Amino acid sequence: MRADRDYYGTPMEKSVKKIVVVGAGTMGSGIALTAAQSGIHAVQVDLAQSQLEKARGYHTKQLGRLVEKQKISADDAKSVAARIVYSTDFSSARDADCVVEAASENPEVKKKLFKSFVETFDAETILATNTSSISITDIATVTGSRATHVIGMHFFNPVPVMKLVEVIRGLATSDETVARSLDLARAMGKTPVPANDRAGFVSNRVLMPLINEAFFAWMEGVARPEDIDQIMMLGCNFPMGPLRLADFIGLDVCHDIMMVLYRELGDAKFFPCPKLRQLMTAGRLGDKSGCGVFDYPAKA
Ligand code: CAA
Repeated sequence: MRADRDYYGTPMEKSVKKIVVVGAGTMGSGIALTAAQSGIHAVQVDLAQSQLEKARGYHTKQLGRLVEKQKISADDAKSVAARIVYSTDFSSARDADCVVEAASENPEVKKKLFKSFVETFDAETILATNTSSISITDIATVTGSRATHVIGMHFFNPVPVMKLVEVIRGLATSDETVARSLDLARAMGKTPVPANDRAGFVSNRVLMPLINEAFFAWMEGVARPEDIDQIMMLGCNFPMGPLRLADFIGLDVCHDIMMVLYRELGDAKFFPCPKLRQLMTAGRLGDKSGCGVFDYPAKA
């Protein structure tokens, strides 16, 4: 991998050198890895040391796989790993070009973080959120005059593979912040596509009702879950069926996104199916808990 090219071999924009990724879960660890693979220094932050260790393990495993598949050399893998720093605190990275918040999908958690971003980061730092459904304008209300620098950069799982970043401007987001965020997404080898600041933006407003309907079809006995998925995979060319995808995303995450859609758009069609709610109540959250719609004994 050349230093002036991103992971996919595209010439890299030089405007972004360092990002901070807050939250070391599935999305945050994917964003940090993709940044580092694109030549950008990444500070991976989480309050929990154990979560940081998990993220480090994921990075090591993914880089090892790329070396095994001869997609990158062992030296390149070392350089990528060296570009990621793990920390329980983001105050040492105040000069970052961008901070990407990838914490839990809860407006209060996000607002608390954005308040501390304003106190911590330089005036020019872009304050991005990876929210999948919460209003950017609402999150920006706690940032005062820095609302011009707040933007939604919605990545997709698995981040190193999925090409899209849905870019959402809030009411006060400046043109410059939008332009710099598009540069960052491109520098990470992604294709940024704009969407307006309505609950769920485009991706989840369209995806979640589809997933929800698959749960209703299952609950009503239209077909077995594996057959619902087969039908959508073979008939509509989905890489994963909607029920498998719900497990992959996390049933709790799907539920939370649907509740935001339901509350904000006021339409009962977004209310989570009782079958989804029942599995979630039983702790069957999908891949991450070793079972959801389907069982994943190897991941338990
Ligand atoms: N991290 C990094 N790379 C990964 C990965 C991960 N977690 N999982 C898979 N990959 C890579 C593999 O290494 C492999 O790479 P190569 O082609 O270079 O060898 C490639 O992806 C394909 O993987 P596999 O062969 O193991 O498996 P697959 O062909 O079944 O693909 C998949 C796996 C990419 C996940 C595919 O099933 C897929 O695209 N599924 C749909 C995913 C999707 O819809 N994501 C969006 C969810 S919605 C969301 O994220 C937003 C939200 O707000 C909820």
